[in-house]
Amino acid sequence: MLRRAGIPGAGSDSPTRPEVHRLEKTEPVMTHLAFSAHLNELCKDVDAALLDCLRRTAWPKSLLAAVEYSLMAGGKRLRPVLVLLANEVCGGRREDAMSAACAIEMIHTYSLIHDDLPAMDDDDFRRGHPTSHKVFGEALAILAGDCLLTLAFETVASAGINATQVVELTRILASAAGGAGMVGGQVLDLEAERGPFLKSEVEPHKSGRPQNSGCETSVPADQGSGGSAEFSEIQSSDESSKAYSEKNDSNRTAENRVGELSQIHKMKTGALIAGALELGAVSASSDAVSRTQLRHYGHCIGLAFQIADDLLDVTGDQTKLGKKPGRDADLGKLTYPGLLGIEPSRLKAEQLVQEACAAVDIFGDRSVWLKDLARFIVERDH
Ligand code: IPE
Ligand code: IPE
Ligand code: MG
Ligand code: MG
Ligand code: MG
Repeated sequence: MLRRAGIPGAGSDSPTRPEVHRLEKTEPVMTHLAFSAHLNELCKDVDAALLDCLRRTAWPKSLLAAVEYSLMAGGKRLRPVLVLLANEVCGGRREDAMSAACAIEMIHTYSLIHDDLPAMDDDDFRRGHPTSHKVFGEALAILAGDCLLTLAFETVASAGINATQVVELTRILASAAGGAGMVGGQVLDLEAERGPFLKSEVEPHKSGRPQNSGCETSVPADQGSGGSAEFSEIQSSDESSKAYSEKNDSNRTAENRVGELSQIHKMKTGALIAGALELGAVSASSDAVSRTQLRHYGHCIGLAFQIADDLLDVTGDQTKLGKKPGRDADLGKLTYPGLLGIEPSRLKAEQLVQEACAAVDIFGDRSVWLKDLARFIVERDH
């Protein structure tokens, strides 16, 4: 198995692991050591469970090799760790959350394989190694991504918990990963870079599909994000595409470009991260208030995480990042540092971390690791 960089302390046997130093600025050493040890333990459990899922497959050898190459290359394991921490803070049992934790890491890894393809961000390095299509070719890389997506749903459907919980976990995963979440955000990210995919002569609603098909993609009203100004604007895919097109058609001010960018980031990255918190809450049969607060924390750190990713693309180092910096500028991506500058972007991320920490105050002392993780997200160098 390949080694990874990671969350501080996680995978401590990794030769490429960056030095643990970030949280020491703000946290007492003992707290930091406990945080690192806990993350290390969670990551080891996730890695073992992921390998177990792969061992049960009966796939063509080449497909298994391509999937294992990307899935076990490491990475920070942020999303599965969030599932497990949310489960823990709600008093759940780790074994009840592990299938959902694996499933979300599978979906995340598929999204990275596809994100790196020549048709998308055309990247050569990921998790410290050549990207999947560089090693296996584009066809197998696409299929490895497809396979991870379907394996995610097979894994969550096989969770040994009650059927009602499994259905809810499945809905959360699908909604976070789909057109109103990650995939929709990736579309908007590419359109912000390249212009609209639909040329003006194409009329999408004349294809025979009624505009109101009865297929609900938006987040139910009672699952709103908790009332902050920042997150009251999260929209369904249809609403966001419409808002995007309208903004694209008019003269955009810097302010509405920031709104557009924040919508892209909330969808392409924030949806999966907020979904991870909800998966943890549901796997622990949490009460509604805990779930709402965790979702709000997730939306805040999700946006902060992508702002930090944009910043690291400007300021980061390839050996620590495991991917090549400077790609956003090469591609002409819409990013926070590109739009606001470095310091205002850092400030925005810091404000989001504070909002996230406040959202989990309801858990008292038990919120300490969620708060540590929120800080790590903006202070990380990888
Ligand atoms: C990278 O995610 C893609 C983004 C959403 C910014 P991570 O930085 O979590 O990637 P890994 O899992 O650690 O490789
Ligand atoms: C990707 O965002 C988000 C995904 C859904 C995979 P980026 O394109 O910024 O991620 P990196 O920088 O390639 O990891
Ligand atoms: Mg991208
Ligand atoms: Mg990319
Ligand atoms: Mg990036």
